[in-house]
Amino acid sequence: MRPRHLITAKEFASKEALNGIFESAKGMETAVAERKPLNNCAGKILATVFYEPSTRTRFSFETAMYKLGGDVITSENAAEFSSAKKGESIEDAIRVISDYADAIVLRHPSAGAAETASRASLVPVINAGSGSDEHPTQALLDLYTIEKELGKIDDLSIAFVGDLRFGRTVHSTIYLLPAYRGVKVYLISPEELQLPEEYKTYLKEHGIPFEELKDIKEAVRRVDVLSITRVQQERFASREEYEKLKGSYVIDNAVLQELKDRAIIMHPLPRIDEIAKEVDGDVRAAYFRQTKNGIYVRMALLKMILA
Ligand code: CP
Repeated sequence: MRPRHLITAKEFASKEALNGIFESAKGMETAVAERKPLNNCAGKILATVFYEPSTRTRFSFETAMYKLGGDVITSENAAEFSSAKKGESIEDAIRVISDYADAIVLRHPSAGAAETASRASLVPVINAGSGSDEHPTQALLDLYTIEKELGKIDDLSIAFVGDLRFGRTVHSTIYLLPAYRGVKVYLISPEELQLPEEYKTYLKEHGIPFEELKDIKEAVRRVDVLSITRVQQERFASREEYEKLKGSYVIDNAVLQELKDRAIIMHPLPRIDEIAKEVDGDVRAAYFRQTKNGIYVRMALLKMILA
């Protein structure tokens, strides 16, 4: 029987699936706040295999697994410190690790790597970011954050700002939006970093209205969610190209003055210079609350997949 992999956000693109995860995440949040011991994953081992750097995704998955009573084995720099360095294929590495662990969380610089790994694995593979393709668990925790902060997702105006070309979180989030009604999307990026055509086609096919803009000022007064991403140095062929585009957008006090009182600012993090530190103290800055929500959503996912 094929294990229950999590490769693309499309697997959750229904209200029923999303509500199921969010309800479970809410339960996890309450249990953690009440210091209730959980044992949903007792006796299970999670392998976190990261061929690209991470702070939030790896640590929050590992924290989630420990909070569910499970154990973790990890390769935090698999490109250097696993046998990938000796030339071992991703298929062979994952086939072997799937004999040691009950599930594998994989981050890899290549688009399609999670899918390739899932075909080689005997146990569930969870995509923790595959090149500039997708980052489905981040998209789930982002929507969980929006619902928690604003009480709904239906009828909201959401701006995605920054690197929409390589921004894998934005791609996964777009796959989830058809589950909600009345959502309007603003896509704000430099021309070189516009959302790839396939995602725009997806929005059109699902009847989600969107507007492409270059200037953040044109949207900031109209949105309920201002979600910004960094320009990712590691995705560019040359340093010059990156230098030209970094700093295209900065959220600072001037932007805050234009933003609705009830709006929220989100960022999957890490940030470089696209949100000024002066914004951190504003109640609308939701990005550190968003990061914390990653634990609860990933607990819910591990319970769903392993327990
Ligand atoms: N948001 C996110 O994926 O962060 P990390 O790269 O630190 O895991």
